[in-house]
Amino acid sequence: MIKYSEIRKRLEFEQKKELDDQLAGFTHYLHSPHEYSRDDYYKPLEEQLNGSKLNKVEETALKLPLKWDVPFPPPEDPKFTFIDLFAGIGGIRLAYQLEGGKCVFSSEYNKFAKVTYEANFGEIPFGDITKIDEKFIPNHDILLGGFPCQPFSIAGVSKKNSLGRNHGFLDETQGTLFFDIARILKEKRPKAFMLENVKNLRSHDKGNTYRVIHNTLEELGYNLHVDVLDGKHFVPQHRERIIIVGFDKNVFNGEEKFDFPELPEANRTIEEILEPEVAPKYTLTDNLWKYLQDYAAKHKAKGNGFGYGLVDFDGISRTMSARYYKDGAEILIPRGPGLTPRRLTPRESARLQGFPDEFVINKVSDTQAYRQFGNSVVMPLMNAVAKEVVKTLYTHE
Ligand SMILES: C[S@@+](CC[C@H](N)C(=O)[O-])C[C@H]1O[C@@H](n2cnc3c(N)ncnc32)[C@H](O)[C@@H]1O
Repeated sequence: MIKYSEIRKRLEFEQKKELDDQLAGFTHYLHSPHEYSRDDYYKPLEEQLNGSKLNKVEETALKLPLKWDVPFPPPEDPKFTFIDLFAGIGGIRLAYQLEGGKCVFSSEYNKFAKVTYEANFGEIPFGDITKIDEKFIPNHDILLGGFPCQPFSIAGVSKKNSLGRNHGFLDETQGTLFFDIARILKEKRPKAFMLENVKNLRSHDKGNTYRVIHNTLEELGYNLHVDVLDGKHFVPQHRERIIIVGFDKNVFNGEEKFDFPELPEANRTIEEILEPEVAPKYTLTDNLWKYLQDYAAKHKAKGNGFGYGLVDFDGISRTMSARYYKDGAEILIPRGPGLTPRRLTPRESARLQGFPDEFVINKVSDTQAYRQFGNSVVMPLMNAVAKEVVKTLYTHE
């Protein structure tokens, strides 16, 4: 059986400036040969795959299945299928894959996130979702996505109203990334979906954003379950996220048995995720530390509480944001009295989001790694929700 690592070596993934859609299609074909066109995605690379660099053992066509020597291979005997939208580095994918799900399509347009994703799952996500026809996407049981939050333009809608045109909520979402989720739901009708977003989605744009999202999903014929859950029950980080789960009313009649997971006691501590030896480069410069202290003092004087956050070893941290790489101010680790604190290492940020240590993070710079984990999810929290979603799918069958 040919190994995935051998294939990526022959196609020189590591040397590529960008992992483009041709390669994305190729890796999707390797995962799901019945869903993607061999002519489009395998043939154009055939020569390179079987070319002169190969020793004479097997110069014929690539044989599937192959040996997935990646940290998180697809399940051998999948229980359900899903798609991973706004995939980032695949935190949600990992959570559902651990429950026996097989990913049949992923999309992410950040080139550094794609590198980390490929290193872990052996799949390159397709790019910009706004450019992908919903009919192209394979059928799947569950749609997953932690999508960027954007306002819906009320102005556009009232203009349409004044022209006397009938419109549903779906119309209102045009031009936003949520629209892309909605059009895929409409075309593919997965049995269920799970969407994840910041807690503030509910108050964003005076509640209008959430109202449109909620109404659009209901209009599409899905029964919704919504909750705000805190990652602190699984990792030493306060991170509240809104989770929207929907089940197709055509399948479940609105009568599915679904409850959000019971959350374990929040007893994790920062100390548990720290590395024993940390390189000096993670210590703040004296200048930056002084700047952060002055800034905090200035704001305190004005009555604003916000400044840097020095963690308590037996406590939890604030929410890690995608801008953590800038100065690390929100989560600083004390190094002892009189010493300048340090920021988290990339591995510690991965742990703060509950990613296992086998998760490969060193294919990109530290800056990109911080952004990727700051943008990602508390993986075990997603996994706890995944267990419930999957249970509901099974109990129905
Ligand atoms: C909040 S992050 C989701 C992170 C993900 N849940 C994870 O575990 O890493 C949103 C992602 O959507 C991606 N994105 C934004 N617009 C996109 C588009 N038009 N097409 C594809 N991906 C997009 C961003 O690059 C970002 O990685």
